[in-house]
This record gives sequence, structure tokens and C-alpha cells, in this order.
Amino acid sequence: MKNAIALGLILIAALTGGCSRLWPVSEDRVTFVLAGAVTPRSVRINFKTLRPARVRVQVSPNPVTYANPLYSPYGQTQAGQNNVSHAVVDELHPGTQYYYRLVIDNTPSTSKAHAGKFTTPRAEPFSFKMAFASCAVTGSNSRIFQQIMQEKPLFYLNTGDLHYGNISSDCSDRFIKHYYRVFMSPRQSELYRSTPFVYMWDDHDYANNDSDRNAPCQQAAIAHYKQFMPYYPLAFDQPDDPVSQSFTVGRVRFILTDLRSQKQEPEYQDCQRVKTGSNFGSEAHLNWFTQQLLAAKEAGQLAVWVSGIPYINHPGGPNYQCDEQDDWGGFPQEREAIANLVKQHQIPLCILAGDAHMVAIDDGTNSDYASGGGAPVPVFHAGPLKRYGSFKGGPYSHGHRSKSGQYGVMEIEDNGGREICITWTAKNRQGNVVQNRAGKKITYRFCRMLGSTTP
Ligand SMILES: [Fe+2]
Repeated sequence: MKNAIALGLILIAALTGGCSRLWPVSEDRVTFVLAGAVTPRSVRINFKTLRPARVRVQVSPNPVTYANPLYSPYGQTQAGQNNVSHAVVDELHPGTQYYYRLVIDNTPSTSKAHAGKFTTPRAEPFSFKMAFASCAVTGSNSRIFQQIMQEKPLFYLNTGDLHYGNISSDCSDRFIKHYYRVFMSPRQSELYRSTPFVYMWDDHDYANNDSDRNAPCQQAAIAHYKQFMPYYPLAFDQPDDPVSQSFTVGRVRFILTDLRSQKQEPEYQDCQRVKTGSNFGSEAHLNWFTQQLLAAKEAGQLAVWVSGIPYINHPGGPNYQCDEQDDWGGFPQEREAIANLVKQHQIPLCILAGDAHMVAIDDGTNSDYASGGGAPVPVFHAGPLKRYGSFKGGPYSHGHRSKSGQYGVMEIEDNGGREICITWTAKNRQGNVVQNRAGKKITYRFCRMLGSTTP
């Protein structure tokens, strides 16, 4: 009798889809999907299937009927590639919300858990909101990811420490496992399916703490970034080249610099710097960055530099290494050259950063590193998503807060005129504005003139 009841329960579970092992349904065939690299006309969808399969992506403005669909070309996921692949859909319309799902061996996936949505940016100047943050324990399922989703940003940018793998051995296996844990966390997966994902790593997700180009897994890190992430076109393509990239939304150019995989440490003797280092690591990489800044200026855009490494260091002087900080203070010549370029060409620039486990805003008061002054650059740190609080650099004009469960929101107001205005707001996992130690809300609004005002 007991056996009969058990068999009956198993059959009911199977028929209602409650026991997917007994009753294979389409969701069994997909492990994760996420979208990124969205432009007014195209999107890139990255995914993993459970087994090798023939796959294409279907995109439609209608999430129910999938009417008027657009498709990517068919591709094949392969066991040798961990069944991870990507597809690009183009000929999209600007400023349109789309829904997507995988079509596997001619059958559309029916699982809502393996479908997503995104909105293409408009093709002209427009106002929008983006969210960003850094630093979450590997595979975190914090509610903060739902909160970020509820902001309905046009895209979500992770500025590093997507996981804390600290990978320096068994490179390939460990990168794969850590990316699986991130993308298969229910709340992170929900965020990445609802909101296009942009990502630039920092130290713990590239290699280990304060890592640089000499990390033993450097090439594996770069290879797996290219395999798993829905990135914008990369500036360089060799196996040990940085994964730096840029993209433009409206009149805002986001410049993501991969400083970790290229960083050359300075050399010190007795706490005195005897050889200059470089965060960009090569002339070609630095040149690409400065050309991006100049191109933004020339095109009448605001430049937003995503630097995982904190720009503002607390005063450390020549004995800087003795403070054991990991920020731009150890690279004063390179930072000064960038600041001088910003000053010379009057480049409208601000910086988004992570790394430190805090939210902090500086309006430029403490970030002017040009020779003789003249390049105050607003800086906004946001994090940690799920990690203990810590503090780096500063001081910060609008204060800071070091506490777990924080993210940043950037709202761009652009009506197409000469001026563009930005509002930065630090928020906690309940969606409330974070206050600094003095009880003041950490938020800052600034405006910049765009266009050819080069002296
Ligand atoms: Fe971190």
C-alpha cells in the first residue's frame, strides 16, 4: 500500500512538472541565459545548455505570443566549450522593449526562468538611468539583486569582485565553477535576465587580492571572460590583452578599463619608489584610453570612466607603498598625465568605481591631479553588494558609508541641448538613500557642457 501511494505521488509530481527528472521539460535543457552589449540595433545573449544542442535566440516585443520575431543565426553548443555559447540578434528598433528566449532544436524554451528582456537605447540624446555596484560573495542570493532590478535601470554594471574566487590555480575549472555559481544564483540570475549586464572585473574575480599582470591564471581569466560574458567589442584581441571596451548610450560614453590584467607594479626600495609602474600596463592600452576620452569630447559626449582601482588615494607621499594601499596613489605619473589631458582638452569626465566596500562620492574637490590643478573629476564608488564594509582612499566631499548591501544609481538628464546633467545616489538594499556619518544623504547632482569647447 505504501509503495502504491509513493508511486502515485511520483506520477502526480511528474505530470504536473514538479519532478523534472522524471518528466523532462524544456527548462531542463537550459542552465542560464543573460543579455548584454545592447545597442540601439542589437543585443548579445549568452547562455549555457545542459547538453550539446542546436540553438538560436528568438526576440520579440511580445512576451506572450512572440509575434513578429527576430532570430539570431543557429549555433551549436559543444561539450568541449562547457555548452556555453552566445548569439547576436540585430536589426532591432531603438528605444524598444524586447523579450527573448532560446529555441533549442527547433523548440522554443517554455521556461520563464530561461527567458529575459531588455530595452534598446534610443538612437538620439535621451534621459536614462543605470545602476552599478561591486563586491558580492560568490553566488550571493541577496535581496539586493531584486532591489536593483526594481530600479528598472537601462542596464546594470558590475564594477568588479563579481565573485571572490581568488583564482590562482586549477584556472579553467575554477573560473567555470565560479561563473556557474554567479549565474545560477536565483536572484542574480533574475537580475541579469531582466536587465542587460555589463561587467569589468577587479582583483578578486580576475585573480587574487591586489592582483596584476603576473597572476598565474591571467590568460585563463581573459579566455573565460570572453567565453561567458556578453561584452561590447573589445579594444584588443590577443590572449593576454586587456578586456577593455567602450560603448555609448545617448550622449554618454562608458569606458571600461581592464587595469587588473595589465597592471605593472612599481618597484620600491625601503619604501621609496625606484621604478614607475603602470595601471594600463602598455602604451597601446593607455593610448586607447586617451583616444576614447578625446573621441568623447569630439563627439559631444560625457565620458564615464569605469576604473576598478580607486582614483582618490589618501595622502601617502613618497612612502606610499608602506601604507599597503591598492589605488592610483601608487601611479602618480600616469594619473597626472591623464588629468593633464582632461584639463588641456576640457573633457567632461566622471568616474565610477568599486573595489572599496563602501559608497562614497566626491564632487572633484579631492580628485584634481592635474599639474597646477584644473581637472576636478567627480568620483562615485558603490558597493559592497554582499560583503563586509571597508574604506579606501578619500577624503570624499559627500562622505562615505562602509556597510554591506549598497549600490549606486546614476540618472542622466539629457534633452539634447548643450548641457547634460547627472544625479548620483547611493542606496541600500531596501532602496533607501544611504546617509553618511553626518546624517546627510549621499547624493550629488552636476551638469556639464558638451561639445567642441576645446580652448
Ligand atoms: Fe571587493
